[in-house]
Amino acid sequence: MSAQNMVMGKTISKKTIEDIDVSGKRVLIRVDFNVPQDADGRITDDRRIKGALPTIEYLLSKNCAVILMSHMGRPKGQVHDKYRLDQVRVRLSELLGRDVFKTADCIGDIVWEKANALQSGQILLLENLRFHSEEEENDPEFAKKLAGLADVYVNDAFGTAHRAHASTEGITKYLPSVAGFLMEKEIQFLSGILENPGRPFVAIIGGAKVSDKIKVIDSLLDKVDVLLIGGAMAYTFLKEQGVAVGASLVEGVIEDKKGQKVDCPALARQAIEKAKTNNSRLLLPVDHIQAKPVKEMDAGGHEKLVWKEASLNGVKDIQEGFAGVDIGPETSRIYAEEIQKAKTVIWNGPMGIFEEKPFSKGTLEVARACAATSEQGGITVVGGGDSVAAVESLGYSQKITHISTGGGAALELLEGKTLPGLAVLEDKDA
Ligand code: 3PG
Repeated sequence: MSAQNMVMGKTISKKTIEDIDVSGKRVLIRVDFNVPQDADGRITDDRRIKGALPTIEYLLSKNCAVILMSHMGRPKGQVHDKYRLDQVRVRLSELLGRDVFKTADCIGDIVWEKANALQSGQILLLENLRFHSEEEENDPEFAKKLAGLADVYVNDAFGTAHRAHASTEGITKYLPSVAGFLMEKEIQFLSGILENPGRPFVAIIGGAKVSDKIKVIDSLLDKVDVLLIGGAMAYTFLKEQGVAVGASLVEGVIEDKKGQKVDCPALARQAIEKAKTNNSRLLLPVDHIQAKPVKEMDAGGHEKLVWKEASLNGVKDIQEGFAGVDIGPETSRIYAEEIQKAKTVIWNGPMGIFEEKPFSKGTLEVARACAATSEQGGITVVGGGDSVAAVESLGYSQKITHISTGGGAALELLEGKTLPGLAVLEDKDA
């Protein structure tokens, strides 16, 4: 059995659409069609829509009438045209090669009539759930109204499974509730590799802030053999170790969203200590690409940050007035070597400001090494917004075993948290 099949062979403890009789039923699927759009409303990444196709197509093959619901953005209970799902409807229809109907709201008499008149093989997309504040408030009446549109509820919105909202949590009190194929696949990969990883097991954690990633670092240190740290968050760790970090982004004692004090340097120290005591290796960059941040006015008179005087060959110590913008070549070499020795790799967060071509090399080398590991039969999983964008834009997405559609949800799963949208689905043995 290949390494990939071993992970895919893992079954989830929740019922899926294959475990219940859906034939000819009216099925309401919670999808995560919260896709990025450009200033003109064009969808710039349709992976989340593509990810939901296997579930939709399976239900259509079972003669179901399919009703889809999603949020888009954070409109906070107000109707905003830019958060309407019309472009999503068009893209979905193109991908399915079928008509997709759409309503102008997600609840109400007209929506109920349209849902009720929907025939087997037809698809209806409801308008953005978050145009109603009751969605995020997990309001029971709102959940009940959504439930009234169908006979069965399917959650295929892995990207929103960390939210306890009416369409992900509350609704399950009123309908038989099971997982879709995308949800199943995401759990199989992200939980599966944590449970029984092929070794060596390497995690790569990057991104800007230690405060965003410290819980996942702490949790992964219990499981991995090697943890590679990159991105701006490396500088909080390095400063603690007495390395010159210049004007790099460093977090001190900050307040989190709940107003709690978070001592980032202390947390970085604790992670380094934890790695020492449990025999995992935590590696930090040994050299850096540095550049000087300068504020300039653009043609429209807006202030923008530009990077000057970059040292693209790498430096050991970052000079005063300069910031680290990518891992250096020696670090890339060391990290690539570790990744290519691994049987399992999980990656969250870029190594530098990869959107700026001169500073994308570290992220590119990590992506390249992951691709090589996959080619040698290892499992590589990329979870979380920016690293997914990096892998896509650098052209390596086809070579990665699994690219998660979840940002926050993937992180919370890796932190070892229970996802409320998953927890409430029916258990297989029930
Ligand atoms: C995401 O993009 O992470 C999900 O769609 C959830 O969106 P939210 O963070 O606005 O709840």
